[in-house]
Amino acid sequence: MVFRDGILGGKSALITGGGTGIGASIAQELARAGADVAVASRDPAHLEESRRAIEALGRRAVAIACDVRDAEAVERLFAQVKARLGGLDVLVNNAAGNFLCPADKLSPNGFRSVVEIDLVGSFLCSRAAFPLLCERGGGTIINITATLGSQGVPLQVHAGSAKAGIDAMTRQLASEWGPRGIRVVAIAPGPIGDTEGMRRLAGGRDEEIARSIPLRRLGRREEIAWLAVYLASDAAAWITGATVVVDGGQRLRASF
Ligand code: NAP
Ligand code: COA
Repeated sequence: MVFRDGILGGKSALITGGGTGIGASIAQELARAGADVAVASRDPAHLEESRRAIEALGRRAVAIACDVRDAEAVERLFAQVKARLGGLDVLVNNAAGNFLCPADKLSPNGFRSVVEIDLVGSFLCSRAAFPLLCERGGGTIINITATLGSQGVPLQVHAGSAKAGIDAMTRQLASEWGPRGIRVVAIAPGPIGDTEGMRRLAGGRDEEIARSIPLRRLGRREEIAWLAVYLASDAAAWITGATVVVDGGQRLRASF
């Protein structure tokens, strides 16, 4: 770990989709840096292992079942976080859904469900976090977006549109809530190899994808989580409204 222990000591964090993949790594690295951590997603079975891993690091750990598309469930989630962790300093909007589908074959509900999880869910959680962050005199919202939000990627009109919306929301809320001491930032990962999401989307094409990346490999979950620790910390106190790309240079490549 590149940061000194305790850089997030005394802080409380909530990670949506924190039971699996990148979200679980972010939860563990924030805990390793000293934060008490709540994780939330639809399936309690996804959350339990993550909760135990946080606890094993000596931090308070809370797992709460919640569908981020449900505004009332989101309000209950934040009430529970306040009751069980005493408040909130860091929200990580990481929950997302994705699959590959040609745009002309995508059903209205297929488009809507991904936009509702990624974009609407991030808004509902940010909105519910606002009063808790204000109570602490400020805090940090970290949105997990994706490089495809600023690219043109076939079979991804739903996820690309949702992530582009998240990039815009990051700038809007950073501007509106900056005077309240709330920083809003985003991390845009390129392909992260050791996640179920990527395994399903890549369908065994890892080596081919790695050849398209200047650093010649897929990313690792911790390489996203370590940036989240930095962005959540006071070391990043003058960073807001920015989307930080972590992609091994993949976005730089044009082929002709
Ligand atoms: P993942 O393991 O499938 O994570 C998605 C998480 O979201 C799951 O824990 C899932 O838990 C939760 N979730 C889905 N729908 C939800 C809902 N309606 N309400 C609450 N939680 C919900 O995939 P991942 O690859 O780690 O992705 C994490 C984030 O990184 C996403 O924002 C993704 O877009 C982004 N990202 C990933 C990559 C990559 O290469 N892996 C690249 C770029 C960006 P439940 O099933 O328990 O609800
Ligand atoms: N291709 C085309 N359409 C698909 C699809 C696929 N592979 N998977 C789901 N859909 C459509 C469904 O057909 C449905 O539309 P319809 O009602 O018109 O038939 C719509 O998407 C919603 O599907 P459903 O399974 O009912 O929704 P859900 O709310 O249970 O699941 C998803 C949401 C679809 C995003 C699901 O993939 C999911 O839960 N993902 C979470 C994990 C994940 O995707 N991780 C990767 C993170 S980047």
